[in-house]
Amino acid sequence: MEIEHPTRETRGASTARTGEGASRFYALDPLPGAGFGAAMRFPALSGAREAVAALEAEPAALGTAICDRGGLLLLPGMHGISEEPELLLRLSRLLGPEVEDYRNSYSFEDRKRLFNYHDTVPEIIQITNLPPIRTQPSPLPDPPLTEDGRLPVQFPHRKGWHTDQSFRRPPPDYSLFYARQPVPQGEGQTLFADATAAYEALPEETKARIEGLEGVHVLPGSGRADYEIWRGDTPRPLAAHQQPQRQPLVRTHPVTGGRSLYFCDSGQMDFLVGPVAGMETGPDGEGAKLLRMLATHATQRRFTYTHEWTEGDLIIYDNRNLLHSGTWYDAERHTRIMWRTTVRGNPDPAYAGEAYSWVPEEGFESS
Ligand SMILES: [Fe+2]
Repeated sequence: MEIEHPTRETRGASTARTGEGASRFYALDPLPGAGFGAAMRFPALSGAREAVAALEAEPAALGTAICDRGGLLLLPGMHGISEEPELLLRLSRLLGPEVEDYRNSYSFEDRKRLFNYHDTVPEIIQITNLPPIRTQPSPLPDPPLTEDGRLPVQFPHRKGWHTDQSFRRPPPDYSLFYARQPVPQGEGQTLFADATAAYEALPEETKARIEGLEGVHVLPGSGRADYEIWRGDTPRPLAAHQQPQRQPLVRTHPVTGGRSLYFCDSGQMDFLVGPVAGMETGPDGEGAKLLRMLATHATQRRFTYTHEWTEGDLIIYDNRNLLHSGTWYDAERHTRIMWRTTVRGNPDPAYAGEAYSWVPEEGFESS
């Protein structure tokens, strides 16, 4: 599907608007405390099923709104997805030609099949601390709060900033993240950082220094993150389809033309041969120092939005120009069930014509 998007000239507008087009079926409200993103509401519609049908009737509306609002949309009140998970798939298909089928994804270890996809919609990956999946939350920052008593957001106090599947070329475009069962507010938030605003705010000499550089990304758990090297882990052998992938440190958004920083703070970067191609390698090398400087810069509170989840929230984020990080929650006391889809395949000149790096040459085994 070809999707027409506007430029991001109206990005950051603080007034609510109704959807353009004849139906005017949605409103866009600013997100509290954020310079980017919007809450998309459907005042005249009765729930997720009607909202999805209305968006399908104007198939460019969703992608246009996301790109117009800096890559982040919150759709509250989408509880209907819990009973009808196909609705999440239908929304995902509005955003690009390919929604990942997680039956064709493999965990790191020796192509073991993932088992955490939804039983009727395998394009949905379930992120939950429930058995048998048991995804554990991020660790608590140390100390848990900032000096002024707030949730830490800035690296290195807050770690885990990343962009989804950056270890693949071409990397994905959008992720859709749905709160099937969030934990109580005050825990288990998701943080987002506007990597376009962060890039624009860099000193000109830093922009010149990083122009043309590439980060080296790798599957998490490969033994190549800085903290894994520091603690003496043995790097895992990597198959051909698991090799580290270079990505531009500054990406140009193929729709908006905006330039943004593109990296992860540690777990998806390869500090054995990177993290910045052509610079001194290693967790204490010049590349690592540059990466940490950029991470500290991009995650300043002024570039971030903290989302406190309510059941039925759906957040759509553009991995091409946002970073995000999950926060700690008490997994002994609370159950968290989140559903995610991943959308890829929109045109991007930087990756045009490339074969998928993560698909084995012999292809995937059939289920
Ligand atoms: Fe993520």
